[in-house]
Amino acid sequence: MDIRGTRLRKPSDEALAFTSSMADDGRIARQVISVNMAHMAALVRAGEVDRRVGAKCMKFLTGASSEIPPGVKSEDFHQQLEQEAVDLLGVETAGFLNYGKSRNDQVATAIRMELRESVLVLAGSIAELQAALLGQAKKNGAVLVPGYTHLQRAQPVTFAHHLFAHFDALQRDVERALELYARVNQSPMGSAAMAGTSVKVDRRYVAGLLGFSGLVRNAMDGASARDVAVESLSCATITALDVSRLAEELILWSSSEFGYLELADAYAASSSIMPQKKNAVVAEMARAKAGSVLGGLVAACAILKALPYSYNLDLQEVTPHLWRAMDDVTSAVRLLAGMVASASPRKERLSSAVQGDGSTAVGLANHLVREHGFSFRQAHAVVGELVRISADTGAPLQEVAASKLANVSAGFGKRVALDRRTIEAILDPARFLAKVATEGGANPRLIAKELDARQRDVASTRSSLSERKAALRASEQKLRTTAMGLAREVKSGD
Ligand code: ARG
Repeated sequence: MDIRGTRLRKPSDEALAFTSSMADDGRIARQVISVNMAHMAALVRAGEVDRRVGAKCMKFLTGASSEIPPGVKSEDFHQQLEQEAVDLLGVETAGFLNYGKSRNDQVATAIRMELRESVLVLAGSIAELQAALLGQAKKNGAVLVPGYTHLQRAQPVTFAHHLFAHFDALQRDVERALELYARVNQSPMGSAAMAGTSVKVDRRYVAGLLGFSGLVRNAMDGASARDVAVESLSCATITALDVSRLAEELILWSSSEFGYLELADAYAASSSIMPQKKNAVVAEMARAKAGSVLGGLVAACAILKALPYSYNLDLQEVTPHLWRAMDDVTSAVRLLAGMVASASPRKERLSSAVQGDGSTAVGLANHLVREHGFSFRQAHAVVGELVRISADTGAPLQEVAASKLANVSAGFGKRVALDRRTIEAILDPARFLAKVATEGGANPRLIAKELDARQRDVASTRSSLSERKAALRASEQKLRTTAMGLAREVKSGD
């Protein structure tokens, strides 16, 4: 018997292919089977389905395959699974599988189950990238590197300071993922089509078997909401953006123009014509993926905009964007972790890059404020004038400052002369950084403490992830035990 019944004649092949989600359902097939198991367990437990019927259905479900063979024509895996059960067990038995549930609550539930795994995997890979950044900070954190604004050298910083900046952005990505997890991990089952059902399925029992920590309260919301998909895509997009900025810096810093980093060959590719090339292709793809992930977010938002309640097949079109984005961002994060861990800074290049380029000029201005009574704006102008002379004449700033400070400062109402040694000390990048006094600043003395705090962040992420994973494994186990227990009640010859 065709489970679509006789209400409609067959759809055209083209219409079926156009509306089918079979090609994408492989991602949630395992979860769809689990949802069917939990629902059947609840039906039997409530006495809504005869135990012997339930046992046979459960036996079918415990042996059902989540592999979708190519070429199967069906609206979706939900329908395919039920059809297979009907073909195998007969409609008098398998015809109870969908009693009190709908594909609408079933698909929303299966998506959330797969999504919570994807979110944990993403958060775990972000933590690995963070650990790679800390590994670099530990090894090479004290190296001074140019800090940029407007992609012009701005002020020297420690390499650790720069790495920590990326770390902290990723830390917020992890925190967002974990907050998102709590909202994903709510069960829509029992919503049925959208009104709930007169069939006495205990929603909390089903949610517990499926490892959810609570219920989507309203049945119509349960069947129609996809904001968790949009929120996941948003988190994925923010993470992808963060990763793309890091990727871009790996590309720039490993170019011969910068020459600050040597990348491991494992993450580079050569050219088919130019034998000398070493292209940072992995970082290029990671940079590009941010575009694809954002595309997925935009697509999902556009599909959901103004969609009337409750379920519409439009919702089906959101799901593939979700998986693609989660996978893309996770791969990008994971590969960048390897790239960061295996890159080596070129210390000679970096140390010459922070010397004598005027990037500590603000230190001289601050000295004039602190020791000589200028306002900051006056001191800024005095040093700005010295920098202009240095740029015009090609003489290094410290030389110009030693010879011209007295004249220039006199023009601003106070004649200050400093000897060359004092000026060199003020402009020296290491001493400049040693004076940084603010929390979170680039003072090398702070590295150890800052590193320590961040190592604790990574450890705490890892432990919250393993807690959640353990809870999911435990509920899977409980579901399997429940399902197998019932399935074993099938008598031979039954
Ligand atoms: N394939 C559908 C999806 O992914 C499942 C729900 C279909 N529901 C329906 N009423 N046609 O959204």
